[in-house]
Parts: sequence; structure tokens; C-alpha cells
Amino acid sequence: MIAALALVAAVALPLGAPIDRDPQGTGAAAPAPCVSTGGACTWGFKESFRAYISGSIANGEWTTEGGIGYETPFFASDVLTGQVALAPFSGELAVDGAMRFTGHEGILDTTISNLRLELVDAQRLELVVDLRGTTQEFVEVDTANVLFATGDLAAAQWSVEGDGLLLAGIPLVLTAQGAEAFGTYPEGEPLDPLDLRLATSPECAEQAIAAWQTGQGLLIPLLLVSTVLLAVAGSVFVHLRLRAAKRRAAALRDDYSPGA
Ligand code: HEM
Repeated sequence: MIAALALVAAVALPLGAPIDRDPQGTGAAAPAPCVSTGGACTWGFKESFRAYISGSIANGEWTTEGGIGYETPFFASDVLTGQVALAPFSGELAVDGAMRFTGHEGILDTTISNLRLELVDAQRLELVVDLRGTTQEFVEVDTANVLFATGDLAAAQWSVEGDGLLLAGIPLVLTAQGAEAFGTYPEGEPLDPLDLRLATSPECAEQAIAAWQTGQGLLIPLLLVSTVLLAVAGSVFVHLRLRAAKRRAAALRDDYSPGA
């Protein structure tokens, strides 16, 4: 088992190893690492919720503030700021703005603000927000730094778009914290997918995509290797236990045989 884990770790370690930018030792200046310091995003939040709010049940509306706008059918921001390293991929972008949903003559009044997109790695995005409102059970909520949703970056479409990197269709689901704060949908409820554009050069966008594809390519073999190693370790363990049991049975037989 330990050998299996050690082998998996040995295969995994080079992923995080520093890159030698001058392998020939020529002394040439290393190229600046690819970083994005801004971007834009579009997000429908949740189509069924918008339909409910604007329909005849809630008879409501939504408004936006600050760096967030709305153009049917998306909330959008083109003033995301922060810092994202592109290869390996990680960082944070944020927008100072809000989306406010109202309905049922003001009984429903929920504001989601201060949106932060935490890009944990090339697989996972975390959407952190502040939320003020009333749950469906009419409980008042006013809470900051809610891990509202998580996004699956591996399932998004990565491409070079103009002067940037486009991650299109990032699937988002509501977290337990998000479910508690919003007060209606359960944890795991799918929200609308999010499109994220990161300002960078086309070359850096290519690098980010290549690094992401390498990660994707390594993930499946790593899972296969670890599954096979665990299966081998398991069968060796069972085999040893069986042999020990057989030896014990033989010893017992010898003890009780008439000639003993
Ligand atoms: C006067 C109070 C309220 C009434 C009468 C009411 C009524 C309803 C009804 C009838 C539905 C079902 C809609 C459908 O199936 O199409 C619904 C759905 C929903 N309500 Fe309310 N509601 C009230 C307050 C609230 C509050 C305070 C919230 C807080 C966020 C809320 C959030 C929701 C959500 C998220 C849905 C599901 C929308 C979807 O289909 O995705 N409601 N409500």
C-alpha cells in the first residue's frame, strides 16, 4: 500500500516542480511568467430563478450595481480585477458590484454582492460572495464571504479568444454554504454555467491551454495507475492472509493428529 502511494506521489510530483527556463544554461533572460490581471465574465445566475422572479408568481425584477450589469439573459462584468497565474493556473479575480432580486412585493429581496472568483487550479473554481436577503422560510440573512458555488474548470471549453483566454461554459453548482445562505435550493443544485475571459496575450493563452491539457492528460493515467496499484496491494494482502490461515490450519491438524 505504502509502495503504491509512493509511486503515485513520484509520478505526481513533477507537476508542481519548478520549470527550468534555461535548460541549456545559456544565461538568456527567462521569459516573464504568464499572468492575467483582469478579465470579464457573463453569467445567467439561474435561468429558472430569473423566470420565477420576472413571471406572474413573484412579479418581481432584478437590478445591478457597480461593476456588474445585465443584458438579457446574462449578468456581466468586464471589470474583474486581480491576479491569475496562467501556467500553472491559479489566482483570484473580483468585482465590486451587486445583483439584487426582488419579488412578492418586497417579501423576497436578495442581494448578492462582492463577487470573487477563486481559481484554485486548472480544475476548480470557487465563487465567494456576500449575501443579504430572506430565505424562503422568511429567515433574515446577512453574511459575508460565503463559498456560494464551485465550478468545474476541467469541463469548460478553453480557447484563445482575441487578446485573451476564454473559459466557456464553466458548470457551477451550489455549495452547502450557498444553499444555507440563499435558503431555497439544495446543495449541489446546478446554477447557470459561467463564461470567463482572462486578458492576456494569445501566446500566454496558448500556454495556459497546453498546461491545462497536460494536466487533463496526466489525471486519467494517474487515476488508472493508483487504481491498479491499490488492486495489486489488496490482492497481495488477501493472499498473505490466506497463506497464514492455511499455515495455522495445518499446525492445528498436526497438533490433533493421532500420531502427534
Ligand atoms: C410571499 C412569499 C412567497 C410566495 C407566495 C412564494 C411562492 C412560490 C411559488 C408558488 C413557487 C413555485 C414557482 C414555480 O414552480 O414555478 C416558488 C418558487 C421559488 N421561490 Fe418563492 N415564494 C415566496 C417567497 C420566496 C422567498 C422569500 C424566497 C427567497 C429567496 C423565494 C424563493 C423561491 C425560489 C428560489 C423558488 C424556485 C424558483 C425556481 O423554479 O428555480 N420565494 N415560490
